[in-house]
Amino acid sequence: MQSDLKKVLYREDQIASRLDGLAVQITNDYQGKDLSVLAILNGSLIFMADLLRRIPLPLRLDCLRVKSYHGGTVSTGRVEFDHAALPDIDRRHVLLLDDILDSGNTLAAIIETIRAEARPLSLKSCVLLRKMKERHRPIEADYVGFDIEDEFVVGYGLDYQEQYRNLPLIGVLKT
Ligand code: IMP
Ligand code: MG
Repeated sequence: MQSDLKKVLYREDQIASRLDGLAVQITNDYQGKDLSVLAILNGSLIFMADLLRRIPLPLRLDCLRVKSYHGGTVSTGRVEFDHAALPDIDRRHVLLLDDILDSGNTLAAIIETIRAEARPLSLKSCVLLRKMKERHRPIEADYVGFDIEDEFVVGYGLDYQEQYRNLPLIGVLKT
């Protein structure tokens, strides 16, 4: 798998120390609050597991599954939810977790749906990676692991055609 990479962006230990920092920030911000984490599958699965184990707060965890790429490397702009029903997040502080902020279509669609259908006390988002580029939607993440160039990356949960999610590092595929 690793031989398919053009370069490694972040090794496992670099990801781990960044997660330590993010977890401290999140733990401080949500102290004493009813926190519901909403992880966006499948991409955030590994990030979520490693991040949440560093956050020593009482919290609830739910998952949402969306798809917007349909196997390619460019966002289609169409975001599909597998489950229309949201978990019960009324009167809770909600933190969305996603693997990467790219076009912004996914987070924007989820935030719109939550705002229309639920009554959270607050709604913030945390992404492991943020591509430095112009977004289709005016959306920003509240917590960001790493800012990266506008390149297609895989590993640590991120896929290309459902492959490479189990790579322990983050890298750029050979083209
Ligand atoms: P957005 O809706 O364009 O912001 O993209 C969000 C989703 O697209 C992410 O949750 C990823 O699943 C996927 N994605 C965006 N960029 C990449 C990438 O570089 N590698 C792998 N998946 C990506
Ligand atoms: Mg994906």
